[in-house]
Amino acid sequence: MKKLFIKTYGCQMNVYDSARMADLLAPLGYTPAASPDEADMVILNTCHIREKAAEKIYSELGRLKRLKDARKLRGGTMTIAVAGCVAQAEGAEIIARQSAVDIVVGPQSYHHLPEMLARLARNGGHALQTDFPAEAKFDSLPEQNKSAGPAAFLTVQEGCDKFCTFCVVPYTRGSEYSRPAVDILAEAQTLVANGAREISLLGQNVNAYRGAGSDGEYWTLARLIGALAHLEGLKRLRYMTNHPRDMGDDLIAAHRDVDALMPYLHLPIQSGSDRILTAMNRQHTADDYLRLVERVREARPDIALSSDFIVGFPGETEKDFDATMSLVRKVGYAQAFSFKYSARPGTPAAVASGQIPDDVKDTRLQALQALLAAQQAEFNTSCEGRVLSVLFEKPGRKDGQGVGRTPYLQPVHVDGAHAMIGQIADVRIEAVLSNSLKGSLVSRPVRHKVSVQ
Ligand code: 5AD
Ligand code: SF4
Repeated sequence: MKKLFIKTYGCQMNVYDSARMADLLAPLGYTPAASPDEADMVILNTCHIREKAAEKIYSELGRLKRLKDARKLRGGTMTIAVAGCVAQAEGAEIIARQSAVDIVVGPQSYHHLPEMLARLARNGGHALQTDFPAEAKFDSLPEQNKSAGPAAFLTVQEGCDKFCTFCVVPYTRGSEYSRPAVDILAEAQTLVANGAREISLLGQNVNAYRGAGSDGEYWTLARLIGALAHLEGLKRLRYMTNHPRDMGDDLIAAHRDVDALMPYLHLPIQSGSDRILTAMNRQHTADDYLRLVERVREARPDIALSSDFIVGFPGETEKDFDATMSLVRKVGYAQAFSFKYSARPGTPAAVASGQIPDDVKDTRLQALQALLAAQQAEFNTSCEGRVLSVLFEKPGRKDGQGVGRTPYLQPVHVDGAHAMIGQIADVRIEAVLSNSLKGSLVSRPVRHKVSVQ
């Protein structure tokens, strides 16, 4: 038996990839390690989206090198692999900077891990694979194992053709690729058979999904959601992340028509200023976005909206930033992510004029985050006293406690709900805590439709 430790950075697609890497290595005798200290193999599944994310990897690699050296002194070995988007973007540079790294493998190539390990065992040295595209990967992965839990992730689409001028994703994940619908349905069925009650469909641009269907047609995401909603035992569906331009009429209608589709939508806009949106190559205006939000809300009035924002994009003036604040006020978000612009090598915005000083970015980020936090608190408070359905996912810190999520993706702590893990139950929301809600079980049968209204 060998021990494997995977540390995951970044988005949920990396969380999915990490689970698949573990599945892939299980037949070679690798079982999960609780920490890197006891691991025969450590994989850092990395994120390259912002500068800090990449720099963190090199300091972590320094720590791992010391562990590897200590293990060697005790007569053991440790294989260190760097996977994910930093691996894709930096390739051999990683080994040049940290020679303790044995394997560098990109997000579309990790299905080669077993043969890379075999090659290392035979020849020593280093192994590097950063090929595209994604098709071959999905075809060669084993079935998901039983560890996905009640709320599972399923990657249905990868890559991006949008080329926002700040973003590395089109370079690290490659061009858009949608998995065939039959493969997704089969994987979903396995997940449900292993206890998943909720599936989040993942993709860098998931609402651009166009996968081959069993009927010879290309299915949209809405069609895929419609088919998945019929799976016996699958109670909840989510999807993320999205581009406003790919929000089709049928997907909006699915929010009205498909009960299992949760009332939550992550719809990034990045900025509220048309000038900046153009410079970002977002291919939509603030007004387009507002009209889209209106249509989504018509289809599903209680929908919780989320977004991503970037402050301090090159050339952003106070007026541009005010436009972002004003858009946030108009929309009213249940939750959102916001970041300081971070210049990524190889992207057009990194060499644009008008780079914004860090202190200005800080001030803007603070103002935006204060507004978003107030909106989130307001949304959470509006749930107080309501009965919401909660899918319990894991035990809480307190004895007997269960933690789950509402349809709006809010985490909820419920005392005495430990036995409910893996199930959906009605919960009365009693208090809003700093990062979660607190509630109590309501002892009446779950009628999902009623409980989320
Ligand atoms: N700088 C800051 N934030 C970025 N994001 C992507 N690239 C950058 C960058 N260079 C943010 C965007 C995106 C989210 C996943 O990360 O908001 O939607
Ligand atoms: Fe990056 Fe998203 Fe823009 Fe694609 S749509 S380039 S993933 S920010």
